[in-house]
Amino acid sequence: MSLLDRYGISAEQQTLRKQFLQLTDDDVRSVRELQQWTSDVAAELAEQFYRHLLAHPESAKLLSSPELVERLKVAQASYFQELLAGDYGDEYFERRLQVGATHHEIGLEPQFYLGAFSHYMQVAFPEFAARMGTEFPQPLLSLLKVILLDIGLSLESYFAEATQQLRRRNEHLEHALQMYFQTEMKAQRYAKLAGHEIRSALNAIANACEEVAEDFAGSIPDEARSILARACRRCWDIVDVVEGILSDPERAGEPQWIDPAAVVDQAAERLRLHPGSENVAFQRFNTVTSVWADPVGLREVFSNLISNAFHHLDKPAGRIAVEYSPSSSDHVFSVVDDGPGIATERLESIFQPFVRAESEKSKHNGRGLGLYFVERIVREHGGMVWVESVPGQGSRFSFTIPKEPLVKLATFRSLRPGEDSP
Ligand code: HEM
Repeated sequence: MSLLDRYGISAEQQTLRKQFLQLTDDDVRSVRELQQWTSDVAAELAEQFYRHLLAHPESAKLLSSPELVERLKVAQASYFQELLAGDYGDEYFERRLQVGATHHEIGLEPQFYLGAFSHYMQVAFPEFAARMGTEFPQPLLSLLKVILLDIGLSLESYFAEATQQLRRRNEHLEHALQMYFQTEMKAQRYAKLAGHEIRSALNAIANACEEVAEDFAGSIPDEARSILARACRRCWDIVDVVEGILSDPERAGEPQWIDPAAVVDQAAERLRLHPGSENVAFQRFNTVTSVWADPVGLREVFSNLISNAFHHLDKPAGRIAVEYSPSSSDHVFSVVDDGPGIATERLESIFQPFVRAESEKSKHNGRGLGLYFVERIVREHGGMVWVESVPGQGSRFSFTIPKEPLVKLATFRSLRPGEDSP
């Protein structure tokens, strides 16, 4: 990218600058008239220029070797020739910006860069005047030096102010980051506490289910026993997840290569815990593939979409299918049902939290957060989610997971300041 583009200096901007400087066509013609003596003056100017810079510690420290100085004499002479060429268009602007960028890179303060032009004036002006058969008035030369001093000083305050402003912004940003990490650590501590609570509650529920199944083995129907067994398995599943998070919270939610079909099967097994689910015809894709995703997150996505479809089915024997149709850059999954569909006016807000239709509130006691979480999890994976629906015919919730693994958050995490003890 050119510096002109990077700094946003358009052709219009260039014209504006020249107009403001009152750099007219007459000026350009006058400068060109000097060209005839360029070669006489350029070499001498370059010689004296670097003698001057080497005599001052501020500039001498940057001129590390005689070879560099020799190279710069050549660069300086062609810089001077370009100055007099009278062609101040795109190319000229770009090259001048490049020179500025080079000096910034070597750490030369702008007032010294600018100050060096004083030498240009001191050497070149009297030389040109002599060739024109006149004498350059000394007071004007002195005045130009004072003008350069002023420009240097005002530039210095511009830069000092800009640096201050940046420093202040940096401080604000650091403060915000500190607050963010502190809040995050607090949230993690509470999550840990909640995790322990959930784990013991689930253990108790699973044990109770097992106890009921064993103690009343003869008196409960097979179907009830199989529901208890599934409920038990579900509890242990969650205990596994919670234990994983508790033992390594940093890595919880980290993506890995997983088989999406297996994840769909786990989600479908949860569906079987619900009475009435045996009447639903459930199908899933058979494509063998692997996706880079957080297994728990992806299971939540499928589980929410499948359970959502199930809870809205309005037929005694409904149909739910999970389909897969990859695009060039994404894995595309869809959960399709033949339920009542969704009214068009609801489609837009369906992924917002706590949004539920009146009719749904009576049917199941979710809080309207399921689809919101689906959207968040998918977004965290770098994908997108959307819904298509025809009232009376059914709905299709689709989401994508990029085929290319997302860059990890490690760099961001490495910014984390010293953690306080949990
Ligand atoms: C009238 C003011 C100045 C002009 C017109 C000027 C011009 C130039 C030009 C045309 C280049 C080549 C840049 C490139 O190819 O990108 C250059 C490089 C350089 N200038 Fe200057 N310069 C000025 C002032 C100074 C001063 C005061 C110093 C202080 C020592 C300095 C040190 C350097 C150095 C070290 C480089 C080489 C950078 C590199 O290639 O790593 N210049 N200058």
